[in-house]
Amino acid sequence: MPEHHDVVVIGGGPGGYAAALYGAAAGLDIALVEEDRVGGTCLHRGCIPAKELLQTAEVLRTVSNAKEFGVDAGTPGLDLGVSQQRKQAVVDRLAKGVEGLLKGRKVTVLSGRGELADAGSLTVRVSGGDGETQLEGDAVILATGSAPRTIPGFDFNPPYVLSSDHVLALDEVPPRAAIIGGGAIGCEFASFLADVGSEVTVLEALPQILTGVDTDCATAAVRAFGKRGIAVHTDIRIEGYDRNGSEVIVRYTGADGEATASVDTVVVSVGRAPRSAGIGLEGSPVAIDSRGFVEVDPYLRTTADGVFALGDLVATPQLAHVAFAEAIVAVKTILGEHAVPIDYSKVPVGIYCHPEVAFAGLTEQQARDAGYDVVTAKHSFAGNGRALIIGETDGLVKVVAEKDGPLL
Ligand code: NAI
Repeated sequence: MPEHHDVVVIGGGPGGYAAALYGAAAGLDIALVEEDRVGGTCLHRGCIPAKELLQTAEVLRTVSNAKEFGVDAGTPGLDLGVSQQRKQAVVDRLAKGVEGLLKGRKVTVLSGRGELADAGSLTVRVSGGDGETQLEGDAVILATGSAPRTIPGFDFNPPYVLSSDHVLALDEVPPRAAIIGGGAIGCEFASFLADVGSEVTVLEALPQILTGVDTDCATAAVRAFGKRGIAVHTDIRIEGYDRNGSEVIVRYTGADGEATASVDTVVVSVGRAPRSAGIGLEGSPVAIDSRGFVEVDPYLRTTADGVFALGDLVATPQLAHVAFAEAIVAVKTILGEHAVPIDYSKVPVGIYCHPEVAFAGLTEQQARDAGYDVVTAKHSFAGNGRALIIGETDGLVKVVAEKDGPLL
């Protein structure tokens, strides 16, 4: 007989552990299945390690610019191995914290791979880890997250072609790096690698890096990148790459025709694919879209009764704070409480490249396209006291509003 719980959660990242903690706090008996350590991409292969390494970059920048403040810090150097150890210590401490919270709320955590056992049932098979077992829930929450994806011809092959997972584990700085995809991950890594001494080239298919960011803000970031020697090529098409000894020669077509970038390593950051395969969804009533995302309604209900999905597994912004919010909506729905669907148009986003980029709501262009009578205000950091004091004058604040109306 399968072991019964009120809710069985598959996946212990921010979506899964938030659902478990919130549900347990509301009195539900929760089982959480995780094949690795709890914490998910955010804690082990994403936000936290990336931001920790970006902090290393910031410390190095600060020390390198110390003379300007009259502080003699000598000639700064970087030992990436030490930095990696510090990163791991931060990750381990936070992972212990999540484990402690789950234990404190009496969530049953099972180590192993979880998958729906039978089409249409709410039984979850757990294999590996603690051995094979079956769990049954009144509801099942799928929160298996996402994994780096790549483009044809660029299979991950360290040290030549890297995913974000590989970059976060680097113990040496590549002298030259090409980054394919100038989204959030691409820009954070471009910034990090440039700060720690790489010569960086960003290759982006669209006309602008940081898609979804207001053009004025993205342009300010590009300008600041340029000052630090980061080359940004937009509107390009990647053709492939050749190897010449330890060198990687990336071929691409841009506005001026065919071009190449000769580097030591290529980082592919063209988005993340949902991990919907291998969790028992094939042949089940849980619908999946053409890109592999599990289809859900605004309450995170899939097309199968009692089965919910959330986080990077569904086609909403792939952000940890979105997964947290979705977990609350899903658990409230399971509890029969009044759940308020998330307004995804108002999700705040913070991208931790240097300069940092943060926004919420509509860009100026999106506001115009939506038919608003738009007014904007722009204030450069060059005129801001704090920015001058810390020596960070690249950038601006931009406000987009409806004329005589609210902020957009
Ligand atoms: P992304 O979707 O943000 O950016 C991918 C970029 O690659 C896009 O600009 C796209 O146009 C470009 N691209 C796609 N195919 C290409 C090709 N063949 N050649 C050249 N360029 C190509 O995905 P990213 O950066 O991999 O991040 C994955 C997810 O993780 C995103 O949803 C992102 O929001 C999230 N994330 C959020 C962070 C934050 O909030 N600070 C940090 C890192 C990731």
